[in-house]
Amino acid sequence: MLPSASLTVTDNRSGLTYEIPIENDAIRATDLKKIRTSENDLGLLSYDPAFLNTAACKSAITYIDGERGILRYRGYPIEELAKHCNFLEVAYLLLRGKLPTQEELAAWNYEISQHTFIDESIKKVIDGLHHDAHPMGILVGTVGAMSTFYPEAKRIFDDGARQKQIVRLIAKMPTVAAFSYRHAMGLPYAYPADLFLPGPVVEDALGLERALDTLFILHADHEQNCSTHAMRTVGSSHADAYSATAAAGAALYGPLHGGANEMVLRMLEEIGSPDRVPGYIQRVKQGGLKLTGFGHRIYKSYDPRAQIIKDIADQVFEVTGRSPLLDIALELERVALRDDYFISHKLYPNVDFYSGIIYLAMGFPVEMFPVLFAIGRTPGWLAQWEEGLLDPEQRITRPRQLYVGPVVREVLPLDQRQRQPGP
Ligand code: SDX
Repeated sequence: MLPSASLTVTDNRSGLTYEIPIENDAIRATDLKKIRTSENDLGLLSYDPAFLNTAACKSAITYIDGERGILRYRGYPIEELAKHCNFLEVAYLLLRGKLPTQEELAAWNYEISQHTFIDESIKKVIDGLHHDAHPMGILVGTVGAMSTFYPEAKRIFDDGARQKQIVRLIAKMPTVAAFSYRHAMGLPYAYPADLFLPGPVVEDALGLERALDTLFILHADHEQNCSTHAMRTVGSSHADAYSATAAAGAALYGPLHGGANEMVLRMLEEIGSPDRVPGYIQRVKQGGLKLTGFGHRIYKSYDPRAQIIKDIADQVFEVTGRSPLLDIALELERVALRDDYFISHKLYPNVDFYSGIIYLAMGFPVEMFPVLFAIGRTPGWLAQWEEGLLDPEQRITRPRQLYVGPVVREVLPLDQRQRQPGP
C-alpha cells in the first residue's frame, strides 16, 4: 500500500502528534493552527520572511525549474516561444491560456492597435513632472493616474470591463514609456502608429525590432517575482488594474529587481576594462558589494533567458557594432563562473545581465532599461492579477507576523518621561 500523502508531526512541547495532509507537494500553513499547547494558544505559525519557501497561490501560467534552468509559459518552453512567436502572441497566450489562431491573433492585434493612444490629459500629468524625472518614476505615476481616467476599471468582476483595461494597459504602456523618454529629452511627444491617424511606420530592415520583441517575450512573465506579487497583493484588495500595475511597476523599479539592468550598465562602466574584472570580483567576495545581474532566488543554474539574450546580443551587435562593455561583461561572466565563491553560492547571470548592453547598443538611454522591462512584464502582471481575482481560494492578502516588541507599557504624562535608548 502506498503511504498516505500526509505529514506526521510530533509537538515535543506537548507530546501530541498531528497528521497534516500533503497536496501538490505542499502542506496548508493553516493546518498548523491546530498545533497548540493550551486553549489560549493561537496555534503554530510558519515564519518565512521574504517567502523563501511559501507558495502564496496556485497558478497555471508560468512554470520554472530553477535547478535545471527551465522556464515555460502555459507549458511552452521559453526557447520555442522566443523562436516562433511575437510578443503580442505571447501576451495572448499568458492571458487566454492558449496560443492564438491566425484569425484570433489578427483580431487581438487589431484590438490592441485601437488603444495605443493616451488621453491628451494624461500628457499633462507627464508634463507636470520635472524635466529630469526618471522615466520609471514617470511610468509608475502615469499608470497610477490612468485609474482616474477609466472609472469602469473599478468593475473588476465585470468580464467585459476587465478585458478592456487589460487591452488598454498592454496597448498604452509603450506609449507612456515613449512619452516619458521624449519628456526627459525635452522633445515633442511622438504618437503611435494607428490605422486611421498618421504616425511613424518603422521598417524593421535591420532586425532590431524583432530583437526587442524577443526581449519583451523573455520578460513577459516569471511567476511570483516581487513585482507580480505586488500586483496580486494590491489586486487582492480589489483595487483597479491601473493602481495594481502602478504598484507592480514601483516594485520592479528597485535595483534588486527590474532596476538591476540599469545598475549592470553602471557597474560595467565603473569597472571600465576587462583587465579590472578580477579586482572587482575580489571586492564582491570581500562583501558589501553584489555582482549586479548575477544571482537569483529561484535559478540555481543558468537563467535560460540569459542564454537566449546572449544570442540576441550577437545578432544586434552585427548591426550596431560591438559594445566595449560586452567584453567586460563576458570577462566578468568567465571569471565569476570559475570562482569558488560564485560556484558554491550557485550564482549565474540572470535576465538583467545582458539585456542592458543590448538596449544601450540599440540607442536607449540607461534610465529607460527598467521601463522596457515593464513593457514586457505587463501581460504577465495582468494575467496573474486576473488569475488571482478569479481564484475562489484567494482573499485579501494579509500575512501574519511574529510580534517581538514590548508586551504592555504605561503612557506617562509628557513631563514625567525620561530619555530612553532606542525605539
Ligand atoms: C530579477 O524573482 C524573479 O523572478 C525576478 C526576475 C523576474 O523576471 O521577475 O527574474 C527579475 O529581479 C532578476 C534579479 C535582478 N537583480 C540583481 O541582479 C541584483 C543582484 N542579485 C542579487 O542581489 C540577488 O541574487 C537577488 C536579489 C537576485 C536574489 O536574492 P536572494 O534570493 O535574497 O539571495 P541573497 O541576497 O540572500 O543571497 C544569498 C547568498 C548571499 O551570500 P551568503 O550571505 O549566504 O554567504 O548569495 C550571495 C549573498 O551575499 N549573493 C551574491 C549575489 N547574489 C547573492 N553575492 C554576490 N553577488 C550577487 N549578485
